[in-house]
Amino acid sequence: MKARILVVDDEPAIRDTMRMTLEYDGHEVLAAGSGQEALAMAERESPDLVFLDIKMPGMDGLDVLSRLRGTNETLPVVIISAHGTAATALEAGRLGAFRFIEKPLTKDYVLDAVREGLELGSLRKENRTLRSALEVRHQLVGDSTSLKQVMEQVRRAAPTNATVLILGESGVGKELVARAIHRSSLRARERFIQVNCAAIPEELIESELFGHERGAFTGATEKQTGKFEMADKATIFLDEVGDMSPKTQAKVLRVLQEGEVERLGSSRTIKVDVRVIAATNKDLEEEIQEGRFREDLYFRLSVIPISVPPLRERLDDIPTLVQHFVSQFSRENNRRPARFTPAALDVLRAARWRGNIRELENLVERLLIMSDRDAIDADDVKAVARLDGRPAAGPSGPAMSTAGAPGTLREFKEWSERAFLVQKLREHDWNISRTAEVIDTPRSNLYKKLEQYAIKQETEG
Ligand SMILES: Nc1ncnc2c1ncn2[C@@H]1O[C@H](COP(=O)(O)OP(=O)(O)OP(=O)(O)O)[C@@H](O)[C@H]1O
Ligand SMILES: [Mg+2]
Repeated sequence: MKARILVVDDEPAIRDTMRMTLEYDGHEVLAAGSGQEALAMAERESPDLVFLDIKMPGMDGLDVLSRLRGTNETLPVVIISAHGTAATALEAGRLGAFRFIEKPLTKDYVLDAVREGLELGSLRKENRTLRSALEVRHQLVGDSTSLKQVMEQVRRAAPTNATVLILGESGVGKELVARAIHRSSLRARERFIQVNCAAIPEELIESELFGHERGAFTGATEKQTGKFEMADKATIFLDEVGDMSPKTQAKVLRVLQEGEVERLGSSRTIKVDVRVIAATNKDLEEEIQEGRFREDLYFRLSVIPISVPPLRERLDDIPTLVQHFVSQFSRENNRRPARFTPAALDVLRAARWRGNIRELENLVERLLIMSDRDAIDADDVKAVARLDGRPAAGPSGPAMSTAGAPGTLREFKEWSERAFLVQKLREHDWNISRTAEVIDTPRSNLYKKLEQYAIKQETEG
């Protein structure tokens, strides 16, 4: 990998040797003789890696280091110094240098640091990209009054340590609300540990939550740290809490009351300081009536209850949400963002949305996958709703429902691929060669797909 490397040292001889070594290895070299010069150059030239001397007249290397890292957190910095004391090395490490090499410099050490530094830099950049993509993915958008109220409740609940219970139908954004609370809490820099109580089999949930010692039960060959312990000083999100078994409910209650856990197979109690956020789409009061949920646990969980209203009660959010999903999709797939016409938005407003925002998100993605036009119109929306096996828009709009909708990413991908193929085949009167050409895939591949998805030509009527 050819990189742009900045060498900062007040001794011209060092700069020259470094330049030779690095250029010989195929890199582009920038050199600065002082801290001031280095900072200006780093800003102007955005190097991939910096070699930095500590002892320089004027601004000292550690100062340069902290400023460099302050403006560019992904930039890898190697300290080169003749006066390597343990204390300086430690301080440089604390300030974010990843390597400390002593003068006189040897070629092997330098090149080794280059390799490691470049790798680290690209990992850090990738990480940052992923993180910002995640932040967008976890953003709560919408401008209806009822969503604003939810956001206000989030703002109030976040800085307290109180347990929050988030209620609402499937797909309304409960997980997003939980993340928003964590993000604006005092624990924001700590972890957000998520446990889906419905997805973990009954036999495993206790060790998942509380951990176990080695040999606690047959098959416990290694000790396991529980999620509550991992969430110490942080936040735990108990998703689908209404699906927890009575036995687990009792244990969770104890953590909430005593602030301590015991690993399975151990009698040692471990103190934990955990912020609990729970969510469910069940009606917990009804579950209590039926004897399936402990009332005392319910009271402990619902110190601050937050209800997230279904999409049909906040149709005003639809335009903003659509816009948000369109830009998210185009960013993730490197495509120009499409526009939804007002008529298309009207069709969406008229739908029933039993699957709430998740269903809207899926539909928008599907429309974007299947259309390569700049504007998505009402007919496009209706066509997709029909393809879906949903009745077309009647007086009450298309009946959008999650029945038969894909549940996993893979199902969704296959399902959209199938729908896309059917649509393209229709557009080209089921002419396989034409269709294959238009969608730019070999004919053999299209045949394979037809077989894989059992697609047969429809007869008119
Ligand atoms: N206000 C919102 N702004 C942006 N995206 C949202 C919003 N609400 C929900 N979403 C998106 O809709 C999808 C469903 O949201 P989420 O998983 O939080 O719902 P949920 O209530 O936890 O659903 P379930 O009960 O099925 O677990 C997610 O992809 C989420 O990003
Ligand atoms: Mg959820």
